Amino acid sequence: MIIGILRETGAENRVAMLPGEAAGLKKLGVEVIVENNAGENAFAHDEEYKKAGITPSSRKDVFSKSALLLSVNPVPEDDLKSCREGQVLCSVLNPTENSKWLEKARLQGLTVLALDLIPRTTRAQAMDILSSMATVSGYKAVLHAAMLSPRFFHMFMSAAGTIKPSRVLILGAGVAGLQAIAIARKLGAVVEVFDVRSAVKGEVKSLGGKFIEVEGAKEDAAAGGYAVEQTEEFKKKQQELIQQRAIAADVVIATAQIPGKKAPVLLLKETVNSMKAGSIIIDLAASTGGNCELTENRKTVVVNGVIIIGKSDYPSDMSTDASKMFGSNIINLLKIMIDKEGKLALNMQDDIINGTTAVHAKEYVSQRVKQMLNIK
Ligand code: NAI
Repeated sequence: MIIGILRETGAENRVAMLPGEAAGLKKLGVEVIVENNAGENAFAHDEEYKKAGITPSSRKDVFSKSALLLSVNPVPEDDLKSCREGQVLCSVLNPTENSKWLEKARLQGLTVLALDLIPRTTRAQAMDILSSMATVSGYKAVLHAAMLSPRFFHMFMSAAGTIKPSRVLILGAGVAGLQAIAIARKLGAVVEVFDVRSAVKGEVKSLGGKFIEVEGAKEDAAAGGYAVEQTEEFKKKQQELIQQRAIAADVVIATAQIPGKKAPVLLLKETVNSMKAGSIIIDLAASTGGNCELTENRKTVVVNGVIIIGKSDYPSDMSTDASKMFGSNIINLLKIMIDKEGKLALNMQDDIINGTTAVHAKEYVSQRVKQMLNIK
């Protein structure tokens, strides 16, 4: 079987697999080819792929020769024309955003593996691309805020007097939030954290953050460890408490998300207006509406001296390590999908394979995709 690594289109610097990981993929008994210059923006040149035994080829050849195509983002809709029935496309999907694209792929008889649908189970941990990318985002968000902040993060005494540590407020202690706590603490900041899941209290504390509890949070075991939408009464109470903490903060890193829904609004306009000028808000939930009422996706806005950055593409900015993690996660997924003869064997009884397969043989497969797209 030939696996093809595609070059990304648009404003994306990552590549689905770097040469080192692509060489590892060959150990599964498959041949690997790569589109010319696919790794350029992740600083991996064609020469390095060649040294790893991977042949750089034209886009046309990658499409026509490969049984399985790897990319970070779904291939542009126009490229679906270059695909043939039975071919497998593997990338992050965002099913709700790309429902028309997916329907087209299904009708064409393509198999679509959606890396963002890999179940969040212990067995699937080594394949969890969402966690890898959230780790990059949490790290980069804190460094970005530290670069922009007019204040030091750590406390120190100098001949010019004592410098107080910065106060960092983190909204949402999922994978990105926990990484942000760790980095902000390493830089010496005082860190306060909000989340609606009581399970994260211990982790926040062990990383040196202070967990601020808002009583009455709704949790649901059926949500599989994710957050659920909160009651109006809770939202009001939480917004008030967040406002108190935001006034004292120098930096806010907002990461709160509810899968398949709009991000919860936690920082109201009034809260931003009462924050100190020079404070920074980095909103990682920008692409799903943002945790701050004033966030604009992929934009920076300044309100009363508070800088609000709506950014959800940090992994593209850290293209080398983000691509490395992305590729390793894919290999771990393909290990359970490729048989001893190096052929693709999709056992739909396997919960990871079933959960990750959006469409196959002209049918919708993953329960989560069906739920998200309202398909019976
Ligand atoms: P996410 O990106 O969906 O959300 C980020 C955080 O925001 C979550 O901690 C969530 O509780 C919080 N949040 C949502 N609404 C909020 C609100 N109104 N106020 C404050 N906080 C709010 O989460 P992510 O990072 O994808 O991880 C969520 C959970 O998924 C993990 O904690 C874990 O239970 C599970 N998980 C399991 C993995 C595994 O076993 N392989 C790997 C990664 C995550």
